[in-house]
Order: sequence, then structure tokens, then C-alpha cells
Amino acid sequence: MGTKFILTLVIVFLHLCGVLCQDEILNCDFTCRYPTVCSANLTIFNPNGLNSFNEITGPARQNDVFSEVFTVFGSHSTNVPQIICETFKNIYRIGLNQIGLERVDDYSFRSCKGLIYIFLWGNNISYIHENAFAENPKLYYLALQGNNIKMLPENVFLNQQKLEWLSLEGNPFIDIHKYAFKPLIILDKLHIKRSELVDVKPEWFETLGMLTFLDLSTNLIETLPKKVFNPLKNITYIGLIHNKLTVIHADSFGILISAPRISFYSNKINAIDVQFIFNTGASTIDMEYNVCAKVTISDNSTSKELMMTGFKTCFENYKAMSEMTTLPTTITTDSTTTQSSTLPTSSSTLPPGCTNENWIERICKVEEKFEEYETIFNEIEEKMENLTKNQNGMLRSLEDQQSQVTENKNEIISLNEIISILRKDLDNQIEINANLENKVKKIEEIAELLNKENQQIKRDKDILEFRVESLSNFVKTEVKNLEDKILVLSTRPCSCN
Ligand SMILES: *[C@@H]1O[C@H](CO)[C@@H](O)[C@H](O)[C@H]1NC(C)=O
Ligand SMILES: *[C@@H]1O[C@H](CO)[C@@H](O)[C@H](O)[C@H]1NC(C)=O
Ligand SMILES: *[C@@H]1O[C@H](CO)[C@@H](O)[C@H](O)[C@H]1NC(C)=O
Ligand SMILES: *[C@@H]1O[C@H](CO)[C@@H](O)[C@H](O)[C@H]1NC(C)=O
Ligand SMILES: *[C@@H]1O[C@H](CO)[C@@H](O)[C@H](O)[C@H]1NC(C)=O
Repeated sequence: MGTKFILTLVIVFLHLCGVLCQDEILNCDFTCRYPTVCSANLTIFNPNGLNSFNEITGPARQNDVFSEVFTVFGSHSTNVPQIICETFKNIYRIGLNQIGLERVDDYSFRSCKGLIYIFLWGNNISYIHENAFAENPKLYYLALQGNNIKMLPENVFLNQQKLEWLSLEGNPFIDIHKYAFKPLIILDKLHIKRSELVDVKPEWFETLGMLTFLDLSTNLIETLPKKVFNPLKNITYIGLIHNKLTVIHADSFGILISAPRISFYSNKINAIDVQFIFNTGASTIDMEYNVCAKVTISDNSTSKELMMTGFKTCFENYKAMSEMTTLPTTITTDSTTTQSSTLPTSSSTLPPGCTNENWIERICKVEEKFEEYETIFNEIEEKMENLTKNQNGMLRSLEDQQSQVTENKNEIISLNEIISILRKDLDNQIEINANLENKVKKIEEIAELLNKENQQIKRDKDILEFRVESLSNFVKTEVKNLEDKILVLSTRPCSCN
């Protein structure tokens, strides 16, 4: 650290004298991992947060080959001069860590439109302009941990539909706007540890259905709004370690379908609604270092016994507490004060044998409520057993149905086989039919030919008959003529001797 620091001082000194006696320095060296993947090492000294630089000095000339810019150790600047992004337009990573940044203005990253990673951790940022990241729609990773951010405006992440990783850890938040996270529709991990949060806003997680990891540990959270975590359909971890939770109501969580691990490690929990255990859908609930419970339960736990011994007091307390808060008195609901102070006296609904004075009254009530509670718990157990039984019954009938289905399936298969055989037969038959049809056609053709020939023959025959008749007529005529001649001759007188 020492040598680097001295080196920085030397650079600072050189520039103090070199650059027209200006205080501010912006110098850039570079290193290339591959010819096309170059990293610019930026030395910056700009304690007054000026934004009037005309150029970046130093060997980093071929600016368009740079893929990332990181400040060197010992740099100091209270803002992000816009010349940086105007010079290195094509970078996808920028790291300005531990250089004393106090503000992120709207021009800071305006010209680096392709930024995917922005690292700004370990600075002193207290102001982020609403449009600070407006020109960085590709942003995937944003590290703002360890700063001095007290509030986040509503639209600060308006164009961050690609953001998957956001760390706001270690900032002294007073207000994060209720819709600040609304645009982060594919956010995967959200770190807000050590951030002095007192409230969790019911709107924060409404659109974060893809979130798998949420860390709200080491804050000052005392209560959780109803169903605040319900929209987190993909959550696998909710960290609430080291907060000030005292009571767990069933509806704070709603039903978490993705079975996350929830850690309440080291809170002040002294009462739990038994419905929470049944409803929440958590796979693991870490309750170590609390007032009434000191165990972790999970799907692996030998459930009921562990739950009863580990949580019995919590359930009892919850039951007693909810009964008490419905009494017609002005009992405070703050459990820390009800714990240590005496209760206001109440004249009504006291079981026999109980006076209406402080602790004895309390104990009597708790005892009474505990009996009621036991009954309810037994009922719940019975219901669960019945459910299991029903489930088994349903499983069996399902199995039966399945085997029936298998049988039917086999039958269908054999029927299909028969159908395919029949179909083949049919196809053969159709082919034979077609052949026969062809033959019939040919025969018909031949018949037609024959018919034609017949007709020709008939015509020929008619002609012949006609000729024969004409000939016979002719012959008859001739014969007659001859007979006539013979007659004439025979009637002539004979002139010979
Ligand atoms: C630039 O920074 C990288 C990473 O810190 C380092 O490996 C490299 O030596 C630095 N190059 C120059 C020229 O300072
Ligand atoms: C942090 O910034 C505030 C101004 O917002 C300033 O007063 C304070 O001195 C800074 N702290 C450090 C350690 O630089
Ligand atoms: C949970 O994540 C899967 C992919 O990992 C996604 O397909 C699904 O839509 C997510 N669920 C919700 C409710 O966003
Ligand atoms: C359950 O036990 C298995 C094996 O012992 C372990 O891998 C798994 O993480 C445990 N699950 C929970 C929710 O504790
Ligand atoms: C459990 O089932 C039995 C009979 O099957 C029934 O009498 C009893 O009421 C059921 N218990 C509950 C809590 O539903």
C-alpha cells in the first residue's frame, strides 16, 4: 500500500507542476490482455468535482479498443467527469472504487451506452441523479455497496430492465422510493444488508418475480408488511439476520411457493403465529438466537417434536398476545414493554381464582389460553394425519387408475394391430378391385369393338343380300327373256325336213 501510495503522490506531484499548474489530473495508462481486450488504468485527481476536462492525457490513445476502465489506487475524485465516458465510449466495464466519489450525476455514464458492469463501491456517494443510469439499458451488474446513500429516487432504475445483480449494502438509507425497484423485472440478487432500514415497503418486491436472493440482514426492521414477500415466486433465500423483529404474524410472508430458506437468526422474536409455520412454504426457518426459539427447522428436521420443543413457547406467547390485545383495555402491543412492565388491570373475563392484578392475572390467562391452544394444536395434528391418510388413499386410487390405464393402453395397442391388419386387407381388396375394374373396362372396350365389327358385318350382309336379290332378279328376268325367246322359237313353223 505504501509504495503505491507514494507512487500516486509522485504522479500527483508531477501533474500538479506539469499541467499548467492545474490541480486536477486525468491521466490514462493501459494494459491489454489480448490485442482487442484492453483495460485502461485511469489516474484521477479531482477533489473539487470539476467537469471541465478537455482531454485525458497519457498513452491511452486508441480509445475505441478499450473494453474496461478502472481507476488506479490512490485516485481521488468527488464526481465522474463526463470526459471519461466520452473518451472510452465502447467500454463494458467501469470501476471507480474507493476514490471518494460523492455524487453520480446525470452525465456520469451517459456516453458509455454499452456498460454492463458498474462498480462504485467503497465511495462516499450521497447523491445519485434520477437519470444517472438512464443511458445504460444493458446494465447487468451494479455495485453501490459501502457508500453514503440515504435515498433512492423513484425512477433511478427506470431503464434497467436487464439488471440482475444489485448491491446497495452498507448505505445509511432513510428512504428508498416504494417504486424504485419496479423496473427491475429480471433482478436475480438484491443485497440491502447493513443499510439502517427500519421499514420494508410493501411495494418494493411487487415486480421481482425472478429474484432468487434477498438479503435484508443487519438492519433495524421491527415489523414486516402483510404478504410483502408473496410476489417473490422464485426466491430461494430471504436473509433477515440481525434485525429487531419481535413477532411473526402468519400473513407477513403469505405463501412462498419456491420453498426458500428464511433466516431470522439473532432477532428478538418472542411470539410466532403457528399458522406461519403451516402457511409459509419455507424449506428452512432459521430461528437461532431469538428470545422464544433457538432452533432451525427444515424439511430434514424430525419435525413435530423439534417444532414443539423449539417453538412451543413462541406459539403460546403469540396466542396469549393476540388474546390480550383483544381485551377491552389499553394494553400496549409493544412486546418489550409488556414483557417488563406490569399490565394495566382489567376487570373483565377473568377465570375463577384469578385476581385482576398484574402477573398472576397474566399467568392465569396464559395457562387458560395454553389449554385452548393445546386443543387447537391437537386438532391441527389430527387434521394433518387425516390429510396424510387421505393422501395415501388418493395415491392408492391413483395407482389403481394407472394400472387400469395401462391395461386400456395395451388393449388399444392390440386393437390398433387388428385395425392395421384389416386396413392392409382392405388395401389389397381395393387393389384387386382396381385390377378387376381395369379388366372390365378392357372387356367393355373389346365388346364395343366387336359390336362395331358386328354392325359392319351386318351392313356388309345387307349389301350382299341386296346384291343377291338384284342378281336373282336379274337372273329371273334373263330366264324369263330366254323362256320367251324359246317360246317364240318353238311356235315358229318348222322349215326343215
Ligand atoms: C493496469 O491495471 C491492471 C489491473 O490492475 C494491472 O494488472 C496492470 O499492470 C496495470 N497496467 C498499467 C500499465 O498500469
Ligand atoms: C463524505 O461526503 C460528505 C459530503 O456529502 C463530506 O462531508 C464528508 O467529509 C465525506 N467523507 C469522506 C470520508 O470523504
Ligand atoms: C422463475 O424462474 C424461471 C426460470 O428460472 C422462469 O421461467 C419463471 O418464469 C420464473 N417465475 C416467475 C414467477 O417469474
Ligand atoms: C437436508 O439434508 C441433505 C442431506 O443431509 C442436505 O444436503 C440438504 O441441504 C438438507 N436440506 C435442508 C433444507 O436443510
Ligand atoms: C379425522 O378423521 C376422522 C375419521 O376418519 C374424523 O372422525 C375426524 O373428525 C377427522 N378429524 C378432523 C380434524 O378432521
